[in-house]
Amino acid sequence: MAAWRQGARLCLLTALAVSSVGCTRPASSELGELPPSVGDFDDAPLKPIVVAHGGQGSPAALSDGPLRAVQAARTRMDAGDPPWEAAIVGIEGLEDDPRFNAGIGANLRMDGKTIQTDAAVMDDLGSFGAVAGIRGVRHPIRVAEAVASTPHLLMVGAGAQAFADTLKLEGATLATQRARDKLAHGWARLLSDRPMAGWEGVDWRKAWNYEVPAPKNLREARVLALGEEGADALAAAEAAAEASQAEDESADTEDGTKDTVGVVVRSSEGHYAAALSTGGTTMALRGRVGDVPQLGAGLYAGPHGAVAATGKGEAIIRERVAAEVYRRMADGLPPQQAIEVATRNITADEGVGVIAVSDLGWGAWATSQMAWAAQEGAKLYRADEMVWR
Ligand code: GLY
Repeated sequence: MAAWRQGARLCLLTALAVSSVGCTRPASSELGELPPSVGDFDDAPLKPIVVAHGGQGSPAALSDGPLRAVQAARTRMDAGDPPWEAAIVGIEGLEDDPRFNAGIGANLRMDGKTIQTDAAVMDDLGSFGAVAGIRGVRHPIRVAEAVASTPHLLMVGAGAQAFADTLKLEGATLATQRARDKLAHGWARLLSDRPMAGWEGVDWRKAWNYEVPAPKNLREARVLALGEEGADALAAAEAAAEASQAEDESADTEDGTKDTVGVVVRSSEGHYAAALSTGGTTMALRGRVGDVPQLGAGLYAGPHGAVAATGKGEAIIRERVAAEVYRRMADGLPPQQAIEVATRNITADEGVGVIAVSDLGWGAWATSQMAWAAQEGAKLYRADEMVWR
């Protein structure tokens, strides 16, 4: 690793602000006491902290995934590895989990054929590496790490792919059924009279830049996502549900395309790292790059803390979310407050989630559900053990 030394929301999911927003203590006796309330800090030595998320929009019930990532990262820190390596190891665990949009669970793009992944890692010593638009790699975070050992900060496209190939990393080529279902759902939303944020009024057929022809209707779009048989099966299931007037179970899944995985780390020496990995957004034109590999958009780390965002990449870039959360933590705001202030211009329809850690503690928050977990010292916290109303 070479150092770069140039220099009405649904719920607050953070433990730090639990009492103020109706979130209550976890019921499980396995969970520790919550971190102190904002402003209630003592002078005790720093405890190591790891926070991980499974992406904005990921069900809190999947928090076992981030919890495993947190514990893997913590194990590495306990063994003496720096926050940089701990954050990467945490991300690797989430890239191995097909339930999350990264690594083997990465989203499919609109053509139903291509997968493009982005990843980035940064620490408080100024090291940064990022990669965008690569394919067929199980752990894109290791490519981002390798970029940090070059004179560059960010590599994209064919060159990044060729660079990744030199690393001879383990491959990942097949889309999961979950990714196919998400794409089918995304197409249904795009072709509805209520397209997802950013696509309203967009002439996407004119902008279509994939190698396969643009689908002319929902049936053709579903064939791209699911194949002929899958599209037929979905249509038959919908017809049966309509006949029995059953609830459409997919109705509350949104388009499910906004997620990413992230890890932030604080060592007991007060060093920080942040890492992100994503399969990007399903409903995206070819070549689109989101917030993840952009320094200060999806992630930031420095001597005052570390931040990792998830959600609508365009909104995160526009609001410079990670840099703004970090700036406010550097000004002395606890992570939770810093997150709230820095994300207030992002709407629930756009969607964003953030995890952050500083010398004042940690925060985890999203405009919707989000799987996350944290470990502070010996105490564990996870989103699905939090209760909110
Ligand atoms: N937040 C991931 C993306 O927008 O690509």
